[in-house]
Amino acid sequence: MKTATATKSKPAAKKASVSTKKTSNSAAGKTTAARSRKSASTQMKEAASKENSPFEKMFEDILKDTLWAEQHIVASLPKMIEAASTESLKEALEDHLHITKKQVRRLEKVFQLLGKDAKAVKCPVMEALVKEGNKMIEETPEGSMTRDAGIIISAQKIEHYEIAAYGSLLQVALTLGHDDAADLLEQTLMEESDADEMLSEIAETEVNPMADYDEPEQEEQDTEEEQDEPIEEPVEAEEEE
Ligand SMILES: [Fe+2]
Repeated sequence: MKTATATKSKPAAKKASVSTKKTSNSAAGKTTAARSRKSASTQMKEAASKENSPFEKMFEDILKDTLWAEQHIVASLPKMIEAASTESLKEALEDHLHITKKQVRRLEKVFQLLGKDAKAVKCPVMEALVKEGNKMIEETPEGSMTRDAGIIISAQKIEHYEIAAYGSLLQVALTLGHDDAADLLEQTLMEESDADEMLSEIAETEVNPMADYDEPEQEEQDTEEEQDEPIEEPVEAEEEE
């Protein structure tokens, strides 16, 4: 009977823990969750017993995917910075490049805390989002506010993916008892959320209202005019002899 009581008490403790996590998840990084911390020895015992569980493996797999995503952002942001014209946007992206480099190191620290190698595994979603951002740059006029608006839209899509990833990783880390890793993941989640807000502000107060005044491209007008002009047929060849 004693064993049955002890078994029953475990789900109850888990349930209490889950209810605190909902607060953090819904706040998307803006609120620090109140956490029920376990003693270091309890954490070590639990970590040892769960090391090879499917949930733990999924956590590590998403960390690897996120590490690749962050590294890809570090490689891709310079192109966006160069393509942007609005000074505040350039500065926000430059700041975020600096922050993203720190986030890569922070993720490496998370792997270290888990006793695992920091291995990056290709994230197809981030690859596609960056590709879409580059296409946006190529398809908008150089120096236009429309291009800046497109850069912000692309950057915010990236931020939202990261917010979803870090929000989920944070909650899983808490459930698995990796509290120190959760602290690091929460720091990054808050940075991503701040970056997203900053981009929204730049779009709403500067870039989008100005993009609304972008003139149609001259090249497009010329092309249309050329198409309207009648094409003269070369008839001289037939009149020979
Ligand atoms: Fe990031």
